[in-house]
Amino acid sequence: MLKNLVIKNRSCRGYNKERKVTEDELKDMVDLARQSASGVNLQPLKYYLVYEDEQVATVKSLTKLGAHLKELGLPFPGEEPAAYIVICLDHELCKDNSKYLIDVGIAAQTITLRATEMGLAGCMIGNYKESELNAALGLGDRYFIQLVIAIGESCEDIRMKEIDEGDPFAYYREDGVHYVPKRKLEDVIIN
Ligand SMILES: Cc1cc2nc3c(=O)[nH]c(=O)nc-3n(C[C@H](O)[C@H](O)[C@H](O)COP(=O)(O)O)c2cc1C
Repeated sequence: MLKNLVIKNRSCRGYNKERKVTEDELKDMVDLARQSASGVNLQPLKYYLVYEDEQVATVKSLTKLGAHLKELGLPFPGEEPAAYIVICLDHELCKDNSKYLIDVGIAAQTITLRATEMGLAGCMIGNYKESELNAALGLGDRYFIQLVIAIGESCEDIRMKEIDEGDPFAYYREDGVHYVPKRKLEDVIIN
């Protein structure tokens, strides 16, 4: 059920290293993103799949998880993501890097929902070293990185917590549980 999937689909920053993620599994996720909505149906997004150990380690070193919990240095050693999907804009289809950000969001949500449905988890990552990651993946001038998604099997206990207007919105950890504050329904509906 979509409702359960959306609720389960939390940003995960700790993964079970034993559970590898295959190229085929990543392709399965991208296949759904590919079939999602796109402005004027241009479909300018292309996807780089990262699943081989050496490349996974490289992407890990160029991305940052958990800005609100810097002191923890997430992910903890041994809990690194098993794979990544790097969402790129194909400059041969569109040169304006900010024009298709809504497509990126739709694709990213579709990918993480499918990962969740497959018993995996993800984390969208906007905090990456752009030029170094571009060089490491050999993307050249054609592909512009828009977002990185970490994928793997979660080893975290993540819970949402409703907050009142004005309360802190930063996620936090207590007794090993990762809490994600969310505004209440009545506070996000305008009329
Ligand atoms: C566009 C975007 C960029 C994000 N970038 C990062 C990031 O660089 N590092 C990270 O740990 N989480 C990142 N996140 C995850 C958010 O922190 C997360 O969505 C938020 O804390 C709410 O948690 P939830 O996804 O479980 O609801 C990003 C999310 C989005 C939508």
